[in-house]
Amino acid sequence: MAIKRIIPVSSGKGGVGKTTFAINFALALARHAPTVLVDLDTGTSAIRNAIDVPIQKDLYHFFRKNEPLENCISTLDSKLDKDGKFRQFGFVAGPLHLIEEITNFGPAYKAKLMEAINTLPADYVVLDLRAGLDANVIDFLPFSNSGILIFTPHLPSATLAASDIVKAILFRKLRLIFSKSSPFFDTVDHKLDFWKLINDLIDRVEDVYDSSVQNLDAFALDLAENLGDHPITRTVQTTIDEFRVHYVLNLFNGVEDSFNTAVKPFLDNLTRNVSARCGVTNLGWITRSDIIHQANCNRIPALLLPAKKRTHKIDRIEKELDDLRLAIGLEPAKKKSKIVSPLEVPTMEEALEDHLSRQLNTLKTMFDQKKNDDFYANFDYVTQRTLFTMKNRRPSELGDVRIYSPQEMLASLFAKSNVPTTIDWSELE
Ligand SMILES: Nc1ncnc2c1ncn2[C@@H]1O[C@H](COP(=O)(O)OP(=O)(O)OP(=O)(O)O)[C@@H](O)[C@H]1O
Ligand SMILES: [Mg+2]
Repeated sequence: MAIKRIIPVSSGKGGVGKTTFAINFALALARHAPTVLVDLDTGTSAIRNAIDVPIQKDLYHFFRKNEPLENCISTLDSKLDKDGKFRQFGFVAGPLHLIEEITNFGPAYKAKLMEAINTLPADYVVLDLRAGLDANVIDFLPFSNSGILIFTPHLPSATLAASDIVKAILFRKLRLIFSKSSPFFDTVDHKLDFWKLINDLIDRVEDVYDSSVQNLDAFALDLAENLGDHPITRTVQTTIDEFRVHYVLNLFNGVEDSFNTAVKPFLDNLTRNVSARCGVTNLGWITRSDIIHQANCNRIPALLLPAKKRTHKIDRIEKELDDLRLAIGLEPAKKKSKIVSPLEVPTMEEALEDHLSRQLNTLKTMFDQKKNDDFYANFDYVTQRTLFTMKNRRPSELGDVRIYSPQEMLASLFAKSNVPTTIDWSELE
């Protein structure tokens, strides 16, 4: 069976609900197709602590005993899944205890794990990533979108960390495209001059203490002014314009509060420090609920609780899809002309205002329709939106069909046979 999609869940910051979201989201996806959740927070045993089933094999067996990853998948038993509705759900648990070489795995373990995840027998693979922005987090993220970012109201450091993830992914891609090993420079004259120029500029944009080139939009403009319509200019612009950000608000507590303390600061950071040009989509929210927290403490994922309060009816799905079209229609329209003429890009303030009003409209539209939803319905809604996006958009818009290594990424970008078979990772990190 081919993998349809790998969807990483990340937040940059700890304690915002990544694991809670990843587990229940994977369960919701498993109602539609075979889904495997992988615990990539390999130092905390978070997933095995939240799902009360016996675990025969985990990442320890994969790394230390050379067990194929698919043999390390645990499933629910009839105690947790009484009606057998979640038979298509499985998870790969992290090791029982902290094991240094598994918790902070090196390049060889990383490559082995990526390859194994890429070939897992499932339609959807959800990755629960750990907090932080080190290479063992970033390298599991797609190159052209954010995966699903989680942040919460009233935690400014978490919204900052979420936009830092976007920044890290975009810079990783740009550094790869413009690295010495990249076939890109075979396509331009004066290879070495450009290599130095572009990498100096990338350094300056990435350095938050250097205000000479504030963000990637200023960088793109700089290139357009200096190089005109050049392959370098176009590559940078396309990389930014095609990037998609998807987020879920956890611990949702109403539109205004969420907007002011989470969405707005997130877009503000993103626009000022990264770019105003990438598309941003709110996939929905998960209400703050004591039941969710209690369920975690009792090691029963919230979605597996008896659905006493469930307001959800099957015939809602059809209507849901119509709502989705409406909500997705509110996203920023992608204008082709933006890519070729960066000089016409709106100012940062205009772009930010535009972003904010669209996100607020989406939130309000969702809220009008969903304000009475319980958390079951919240998870269902986010899942429906995710499925809709995956079905109707490019695979590289949300998650991806595999975790690409740097050389696979270059090969897919340049579709050339002279992509080097090994890349110096240290050049990128
Ligand atoms: N929607 C929610 N309502 C109530 N409590 C929640 C909700 N989401 C998460 N929590 C609680 O918040 C705490 C942190 O959640 P969780 O462990 O899922 O976060 P995390 O981002 O995975 O953390 P870490 O960075 O440590 O991996 C837990 O105690 C969890 O029960
Ligand atoms: Mg976690």
